[in-house]
Amino acid sequence: MSRIAIFGALIAGMLLSACASAPGLAQVRDSELDSKAAQPMPRLVGESGRFVFLVDDKPFLVLAGQANNSSNYPDMLAEVWPAMRDLGANTLQIPVAWEQVEPVEGQFDFSWVETLLDEARANDMRLILLWYGTWKNTSPHYAPAWVKLDNDRFPRMVGPDGETHYALSPNQRSTFEADQRAFVALMQFLKANDPDRIVIMVQVQNETGSYRQVRDYSDTAEAEFKSAVPDALVHALAVSPGTWTEVFGTDADEYFQAWSIARYVGEMATAGRAVYDLPMYANAALRDPVAPQEPGAYASGGPAFNVIDIWQAAAPSLDFLAPDIYFREHDRYARVLDQYGLPDNALFVPETGNDEDYARFFFMTLGQGAIGFSPFGMDYTGYGNYPLGGKPMTPDLIAPFADNYRLVAPFGEEWARLAYESEVWGVAKPDDASSQTLDLGGWTADIDYKEWQFGFSDWDFLGDYERKDGTENPNAGVLLARLAPDTFLVTGYHARVSFGLGNGREDEHLIFDRVEEVEWTGDRWRVRRVWNGDQTDYGLNFTDRRQVLRVKLATYE
Ligand code: DGJ
Repeated sequence: MSRIAIFGALIAGMLLSACASAPGLAQVRDSELDSKAAQPMPRLVGESGRFVFLVDDKPFLVLAGQANNSSNYPDMLAEVWPAMRDLGANTLQIPVAWEQVEPVEGQFDFSWVETLLDEARANDMRLILLWYGTWKNTSPHYAPAWVKLDNDRFPRMVGPDGETHYALSPNQRSTFEADQRAFVALMQFLKANDPDRIVIMVQVQNETGSYRQVRDYSDTAEAEFKSAVPDALVHALAVSPGTWTEVFGTDADEYFQAWSIARYVGEMATAGRAVYDLPMYANAALRDPVAPQEPGAYASGGPAFNVIDIWQAAAPSLDFLAPDIYFREHDRYARVLDQYGLPDNALFVPETGNDEDYARFFFMTLGQGAIGFSPFGMDYTGYGNYPLGGKPMTPDLIAPFADNYRLVAPFGEEWARLAYESEVWGVAKPDDASSQTLDLGGWTADIDYKEWQFGFSDWDFLGDYERKDGTENPNAGVLLARLAPDTFLVTGYHARVSFGLGNGREDEHLIFDRVEEVEWTGDRWRVRRVWNGDQTDYGLNFTDRRQVLRVKLATYE
């Protein structure tokens, strides 16, 4: 793949547009901004499955936490920042609800966003804003009353039998225009008030789609459904032209819904970025990757794995589509990462459970080259989404996630660079704590979760002793990155890493040239000590200590 120079590059000037009426305060600040030097815009760069997210023109690994849904009020922030600090996060994801910024049509109030920006700045935290508009977990609950209670002007979807569905229709221009106006006003406010780029990304809507009904059957939607599939989609999917049913058969209803919603979200993103060009994405309520349900049993028309290509064709202004992962099982989680970490889709986990079970998946996610990770419900407001995620957060419950962030944060920038420019791997402990083997190209790495730091668990000459069953430490996993053909960065928790020789090297004998415990100084790896003897004779054993190793492998004949 072609590499671009990722340091020192400056983004082209921001596009300006005259969309929507800007709030007065924003206009005042706008003129102030002209005299200040603004930071470069955050942006996602990459292709062919390698991506890097740049903030201040430097690789940025998003170590985030998402606040609970109703934590989007100034009074709640005192219970959000301490959790973010305990987590060791560099980014807070938090909602901006349409109902709170445009409670009366045409009258914008961005005081929440203003407070949030001020406090984020004071807490040295970046923000990813979640726009809760037409869809929040598919429903319009966060739309202002003047929208969600006016079914004539902002119609809900209609069932095949004429029944009113709970979700707003994606096929109604009036709803789209109102939502877009508010979203653009938000982007104008950010452009005018965030010269230092506290806000690094925006999520457009939240878990779009519709449960219980695959699409809208209103007259407006029906007329569109009976017409030809748009050229852009025909070309993107390389199908023959025709009506939705002719082209897509039994999938037509879901694909039509996906196209309708993606076009809506994509047009909003386009309009927002024309004002202020922040990276934008949409998140997905997932279809089960192992036992896929029928649309409606999952959020029909949202960016589920089977309609990712439709979303990409309809919403090219989104940088990526992102999975909200609440599967506790290792293999299911891994499958989702495969479905969304694609050559043309950067991997970002914007939500995952905050129960201890989920912490290990941090390693697997980063190993797939993800640009970031974010457990959900990370505040001290006393709400927990157990059994989906965890119980209400406390410092103790946050600890496993904090351990992971504190391990990687010191070299987060370097890790993000390596994920883009080199090769990275990562594994999480399987549910049964079984061993794993990684192919490192010429070398292998075996990962074990049932070993002590010393010796091998199948030794019996010591007689009876308590053997590990691998379940004592749920937050277990390993990260590796290639620093040179024979040199790897290795870290993790509660696991043993044993290197081996790849296929075709049977005649060689493996030996460590050097195993250095290192720390990142900001521009190089500083050696703290060299591991040898007991520390390397039985693999490289990671415990609950924060230890990062630089391992140079060698062979002799
Ligand atoms: C996924 C949604 O995106 C979140 O906002 C939240 O509702 C969780 N589900 C459940 O806590």
